[in-house]
Amino acid sequence: MFTETATETILVVDDNPTNIQVLFDVLTEIGYRVAIAKSGEAALQRLQSYHPDIILLDVMMPGIDGFETCRRLKAGPTTCDIPVIFMTALSDSIDKVKGLSLGAVDYITKPIQHEETLARIRVHLQLSNSQKALEQRTVELSQALNHLKQTQVHLVQSEKMTSLGQLIAGIAHEINNPVNFIHGNLIPAEEHVEDLMTCLHLYRECYPQPDPRIQTWMEQVNMEYLEADLPKLIHSMKLGSDRIRQLVLSLRNFSRLEGDGCKAVNIHEGIESTLLILQHRLRARPDHPGIRLVRNYGQLPEIECYPSQLNQVFMNLLSNAIDALEEQDQQRHFDEIQAKPSTITICTDLLPHQAVSIRIADNGPGIEKTVCSKLFEPFFTTKQIGKGTGLGLSISHQIVTEKHGGKISCQSTFGQGAEFVIEIPLQQAVCQAA
Ligand SMILES: Nc1ncnc2c1ncn2[C@@H]1O[C@H](COP(=O)(O)OP(=O)(O)OP(=O)(O)O)[C@@H](O)[C@H]1O
Ligand SMILES: [Mg+2]
Repeated sequence: MFTETATETILVVDDNPTNIQVLFDVLTEIGYRVAIAKSGEAALQRLQSYHPDIILLDVMMPGIDGFETCRRLKAGPTTCDIPVIFMTALSDSIDKVKGLSLGAVDYITKPIQHEETLARIRVHLQLSNSQKALEQRTVELSQALNHLKQTQVHLVQSEKMTSLGQLIAGIAHEINNPVNFIHGNLIPAEEHVEDLMTCLHLYRECYPQPDPRIQTWMEQVNMEYLEADLPKLIHSMKLGSDRIRQLVLSLRNFSRLEGDGCKAVNIHEGIESTLLILQHRLRARPDHPGIRLVRNYGQLPEIECYPSQLNQVFMNLLSNAIDALEEQDQQRHFDEIQAKPSTITICTDLLPHQAVSIRIADNGPGIEKTVCSKLFEPFFTTKQIGKGTGLGLSISHQIVTEKHGGKISCQSTFGQGAEFVIEIPLQQAVCQAA
């Protein structure tokens, strides 16, 4: 005998009032909540808004019979998982097989044996509950697995970026000292040269007729040219050392090894230093006219963010754009490329709701609609093995949305390029707390 009080709901589908009454009494006495439908059609109608834990279904009914009712139940997305127990006076084994093959879980034969019916209902409710728990557990486990995969991906990528950052910071540091003393010495060197020149002019004035040996030597070295060229030479050395100092600054800015914390920075500097690292891929080569860059930078305040991580996002988006353009240009002739140059356009704007947008667009091959929905999934790549890991965009998505509370999306028409849009708030709660 069952002593515990059941709480599950049962739908009884039968056209026979006596059967309904018997089942209703037996089931409600145990505590089940019982609903009744007097035909297959009525049951299907009822199930549109009602989800019982189990259905007891008569086979022989006017209108659609139990088998048809069961078939329709199993075809419905919301009803297919409700266990069905057939009730029939027929003890023919063919009918039982038919019912089971339609998806029923069990059979009870009429006249109803109370104890047996209750026992079967209990077993199937338990089975169904364990199956639901199992499904839930499977969902939880696959979520945990996904999370683990993402964490792993993030670790690998950030490890890669940290090594790159360390390498760049190391090089920048090593170049910084020698270039600084070249730069520092150029100013006195220029003064010394000027003094020597003045001295030379004085000699010429005081001794207009030098010794023939001096005269010959001056002609040999082309003294006039030397006098004109030396200041130019020093000037271009100054320009060169200024450029190297600028590069070092950009490299340091990119690596940002002074701390990965949240701070207010000029985002354009981050974009520029990333472009600098990618310069070798943008520049014209003998076989390629180079990739054109268009900058439409808006007036932006300093943005609170994790600069090195945001640089990582710029790096991923710009590398992808370059990859796409390079791939397209492999199919085009030099003249064709020159007529319609491969172009990357970077736009930044201040948005009305205390946020900024950074848009990176290319006029490459664009992205197919079917691919668009998978872009931000980890490991999704259309590149050859060894060329792409498929992590760039998923990491970027994580950095923008989870780390910065922003948004990242892609707009693309296949054949007409792609545009990635990042939106991030001007301020981060973590930054203010710090
Ligand atoms: N600008 C773009 N134009 C065309 N396709 C793009 C563009 N950006 C991304 N894609 C598509 O999205 C896919 C996923 O990009 P994602 O950066 O995540 O990985 P990946 O570039 O393939 O590999 P990696 O991990 O080395 O970045 C790419 O393989 C490419 O098919
Ligand atoms: Mg990529």
